[in-house]
Amino acid sequence: KAIPRNIGARPAFQAIAVNRLDTVSVPPGYSARTFLAWGEPLFSDGPAYLDAGLNTAQEQAQQIGAHHDGIHYFPLRAQTGERQRALIAMNHEYIDAPVLHPAGSLAEDGSRTPEQIAKEIAAHGVSIVEVRETDDGVWEQVDSKRNRRITAATPMELSGPVRGHALVKTAYSPDGTATLGTVNNCGSGRTPWGTYLTTEENWAGYFVNRDAERPREQARYGVPTVNSNYRWDSAEPRFDATTKADDATGDYRNNPNTFGWMVEIDPYAPAAIPVKRTALGRFGHEGAIFPPARVSAPVVVYSGDDANNEYIYKFVSKRAYVLTPLLRPAPDALDVGTLYVARFDDDGTGQWLALDIADPAFQAAAAAAGVEFADQADVLVNTRLAADVVGATKMDRPEWGAVDPLTGMVYFTLTNNSARVAEGVDAANPRGPNPFGHIIRWREDGDRHEALRFAWDIYVLSGAEGAGVVLPGTADERPLDADNLHASPDGLWFDQGGLLWIQTDMSGSQLGEGPFGNNQMLAADPVTGDIRRFLVGPVGCEVTGICSTPDLRTLFVNIQHPTGSWPDGGDARPRSSTVIVTKHDGGIIGT
Ligand code: FEO
Ligand code: CA
Ligand code: CA
Ligand code: CA
Repeated sequence: KAIPRNIGARPAFQAIAVNRLDTVSVPPGYSARTFLAWGEPLFSDGPAYLDAGLNTAQEQAQQIGAHHDGIHYFPLRAQTGERQRALIAMNHEYIDAPVLHPAGSLAEDGSRTPEQIAKEIAAHGVSIVEVRETDDGVWEQVDSKRNRRITAATPMELSGPVRGHALVKTAYSPDGTATLGTVNNCGSGRTPWGTYLTTEENWAGYFVNRDAERPREQARYGVPTVNSNYRWDSAEPRFDATTKADDATGDYRNNPNTFGWMVEIDPYAPAAIPVKRTALGRFGHEGAIFPPARVSAPVVVYSGDDANNEYIYKFVSKRAYVLTPLLRPAPDALDVGTLYVARFDDDGTGQWLALDIADPAFQAAAAAAGVEFADQADVLVNTRLAADVVGATKMDRPEWGAVDPLTGMVYFTLTNNSARVAEGVDAANPRGPNPFGHIIRWREDGDRHEALRFAWDIYVLSGAEGAGVVLPGTADERPLDADNLHASPDGLWFDQGGLLWIQTDMSGSQLGEGPFGNNQMLAADPVTGDIRRFLVGPVGCEVTGICSTPDLRTLFVNIQHPTGSWPDGGDARPRSSTVIVTKHDGGIIGT
């Protein structure tokens, strides 16, 4: 069943109220059920999930990982007796050690045993699972040869300008072409050619460098100087970038430089090695957003760097999509091209600034700033520094982006920024501090995503009643109300019909008290500014990651780091999980 051409005005469901229940709430006429929860085995004869952290590290490696984030749907041909079949790829951002381990708490000094470290490494990464919807409308896992776990210990290739560079040579890969594992995978992306991009966000904290001085490619990203966040370095020397007198455990001074990248995974090819695409830049990646493919146009991908006062980037490939006979990228599309960073000017226009050592404007900016880069690999390993040098606009923590399938406009969430001071505001980041966040949007010149100039405005200033407003500065400006007040927008996605979905990641007191309730998901009409709350998550969770079936009648939404006893209830430990949302009448979501 394809989406009908005219599916009518959406959102058309009844908005739900905020709440602090330990359940998933959806509007009347809809249902939500859990699927692919943390710890479920990848195969029906695999190790069953055990409550109280009782699964071993070896079992965790055969189960769905922890802390679900980005999720995407990769269709397969349906077989007899079923309506739809697909691969689900999703990433697992981090772990909550007291929930993961049987002791329920850590040693007082925060240290870990080798078994704990092995389990934490196995709970990170990506899960790929084949699923099907039976003729009875039930979604279930399939024992498929494509089912796969990728973890913080999976071999990965480096590609693009940084491959083979001195800055990424390690004991694991003396020629600088490979690394082990991916960590802190947040956001994600689906390429127009059907691969999954998973993102390395807060990777720096997984390493430690106890040298008196850290190199700029570690200091600028906050690699810790005393202890790594999870102490993995105590069992796995590759997480310790400290200079060592003897080389008995190997030289891993450069290993942090092999993290901070976007990782491409082909979900249809279970033996394919994941590839870290260095041309897309090194930062706290959050999401990879592709405009639709167009013949003869380059591949474009947008990505945000989620930290206070960091930047929004886009990569434009050198070579265009080709018809061969399907629309395909040139083979080197994600390896050869130009990385740009955004400058939002106060007059509502903006410019993409090249981070390219061969570009005269970049050379002049670097010289003026007194910063030297040896080559393009050095620029990319130090992407944040390169963006500082060209005078990009410091944003309020860029999270996900989304491209409107009907207009081509690009929307980006700016989740919040406690570090912006009142004197430091600009038109694109107008509140200092910014506890609630906002959503910015732009139209590229000539509606060409590879353009170097754009026009932008703010779509919504998130916040409580009196603090939030939709379409500020326009004739349609309106305050947020009980149906849509929200804060800290994070996940963002346009469905195939042009409805914009907004997911929130409030934390601390914003989550625990006040008007917003638990984290939530809203649906928005980008033209009218109609925004309605569609889903409220369980206690303590973040709502993140969303995809749908091609017919738009099933939504997959991720619930991350719940803190009550959802979804199992009673005394059970909480589990991150996907939820499947459908309409009782089988209708299109949002109607
Ligand atoms: Fe992992 Fe920026 O959220
Ligand atoms: Ca996020
Ligand atoms: Ca967030
Ligand atoms: Ca998160």
